[in-house]
Amino acid sequence: MAGFHACNVLVTGANRGLGLELVKQFLEKSNPPERVFAACRNPEGAQELKYLASKHPNLVIILLDVTNLASIEAAVARVEENLKGSGLNLLINNAAILRLTTLESETRENMSVVYTTNVTGPLLVSQAFLPLLKKAAQQSTQKGLSCSRAAIVNMSSEAGSIKNLLIWDFGHFISYRCSKAALNMLTKCQSLCYAEQGILTITFHPGWVKTDMGSSISDQAPLTPDESVRGILNTLPMLSEKDNGAFVDWKGNHLPW
Ligand SMILES: NC(=O)c1ccc[n+]([C@@H]2O[C@H](COP(=O)([O-])OP(=O)(O)OC[C@H]3O[C@@H](n4cnc5c(N)ncnc54)[C@H](OP(=O)(O)O)[C@@H]3O)[C@@H](O)[C@H]2O)c1
Repeated sequence: MAGFHACNVLVTGANRGLGLELVKQFLEKSNPPERVFAACRNPEGAQELKYLASKHPNLVIILLDVTNLASIEAAVARVEENLKGSGLNLLINNAAILRLTTLESETRENMSVVYTTNVTGPLLVSQAFLPLLKKAAQQSTQKGLSCSRAAIVNMSSEAGSIKNLLIWDFGHFISYRCSKAALNMLTKCQSLCYAEQGILTITFHPGWVKTDMGSSISDQAPLTPDESVRGILNTLPMLSEKDNGAFVDWKGNHLPW
């Protein structure tokens, strides 16, 4: 099982919630990644990231709003400059929004804003970082597909599983569920196109977690960010060709669409 010690990793929405916890746990590893890019839309206000950066020289905080193409392009330029000729091994499209709606209260504006962030965002961010992901795949001595060679991890949700419809009894949030079902399809399409370039693509369910988002649904989320991210970081190194395009949860199980 490969670790992440020689890897360059980027996480979007890294200033709070699961994104921040991912950054923390990557940095705490005994063999941490070579560089961790923590992308967020307000680096100035990202106090916890700034504190972490003061302790970890391999942490680079970058500005990235996933709904703004100019911001995405500027982030790619910043990352490329920092990589000094290396590729980006792991892109985690984590940033997302959820609006607490019902079928009756859902609006055109919500559908559009949630889709722009949760689906178009990961599409555009992946397109923009593709050259750096390809470079990582080409530079790697590893064969086959893995998260330590080159990978896109789209943070989805079992709330977007048409079969399982996680926590329907707690809330319907139609725009969010539709956006995650669409993100799953995007992931499948990416996996079919990018595998031949050495890039693994998966869609991920982190569990129902006590973050701002998870707790906005109810106070009954069973997982802490620490538990969820420990599971995620144990699972990612286990993934290979057989998982390409799959819907995987924080314990490594494959989920139904
Ligand atoms: N928590 C759960 O129970 C749960 C369950 C299943 C799936 N997920 C998924 O896991 C991921 C992380 O969720 P979370 O619980 O950590 O959510 P969260 O606590 O609400 O944090 C969301 C993060 O996304 C960022 N973000 C939102 N819009 C953005 C944009 N346009 N550009 C850049 N960043 C943006 C936020 O930044 P700001 O601080 O600037 O707003 C924040 O850092 C999401 O994809 C979510 O759908 C979560």
